[in-house]
Amino acid sequence: MDTATHTKITVIPTGAALGADIVGVDLSQPVSTDVYTQIRQAWNDHLVLRFRGQKLGDPAFLAFARLFGELDKAPVHASKDVVNHHPEITVMSNIKVDGKPIGSLGNYEAVWHTDMSYNELCPMGSALYAIEVPPSGGNTGFANMYRAFDTLPAELKREIIGKTCRHDSSRNSAGELRVGFKDAIDPREAPGAIHPLIRTHPETRRNALFLGRRKSAYIIGLPLDESEDLLNRLWAHATQKEFEWYQVWQLGDMIMWDNRAAMHRRDAFDANTRRLMHRTQIKGCKPFFDATTLATV
Ligand code: OGA
Ligand code: MN
Repeated sequence: MDTATHTKITVIPTGAALGADIVGVDLSQPVSTDVYTQIRQAWNDHLVLRFRGQKLGDPAFLAFARLFGELDKAPVHASKDVVNHHPEITVMSNIKVDGKPIGSLGNYEAVWHTDMSYNELCPMGSALYAIEVPPSGGNTGFANMYRAFDTLPAELKREIIGKTCRHDSSRNSAGELRVGFKDAIDPREAPGAIHPLIRTHPETRRNALFLGRRKSAYIIGLPLDESEDLLNRLWAHATQKEFEWYQVWQLGDMIMWDNRAAMHRRDAFDANTRRLMHRTQIKGCKPFFDATTLATV
């Protein structure tokens, strides 16, 4: 490497189970391969990266996200009124124009989830950029699923080796039915992709607990009551405070998270305040479990 052009980025970990600030990178300008390589390493190390004080139009936002891989299409919304103005951008907002929502999730709580894990090929990560931020509420929580996996009681770990789970595609993370889907009451009949409960990260080769979202999830091959019981035990373990970190949004924050190793949720906020975010999602692979990583279990 030509050291004359080497710029070392500053990575400041949150001190919690995941998350770090990247300081001194202006994402409105092209990012060099050297800086990108350091950011990618920090992403693998910390799972969630925050870039504060950015001023990004969609083209620069998308150009930065594209460094990580090809972008995925926005998910199906819960309202016919929400029109994607760009196929790769998901608008997350409670704002209404002429009585019609311009984006997804309104002002509601979004429960713990992994983006679009109901698809066969799941996005490796998502990036969310704050354009309007309410005075309070709407914080986004992240949880480290490597830690959740590493700390699973050995018996529970053994119980899920080789098991797969179906990830319900019919509802969004606020629990709303998506356009074109029927209401599935029995989790065994919910639509969606089937993935391993233990997921090996293709880059770090570390294993993460991979739950997706709780509602209408089903562990393939188990009687319904056993699937519910096992899922409840896994979720109780995965949603412990010690695995979490919360983002309190400021205008100009851009956050990227690794869907292969982190879950996220969002607090509700006052419906009379405005919140506007643009999200994009980077294509990923089909989740897999590499059993050779588990030699010592
Ligand atoms: C998302 C999401 C949470 C938020 O964009 O995938 O879950 O804070 N957003 O709006
Ligand atoms: Mn999400």
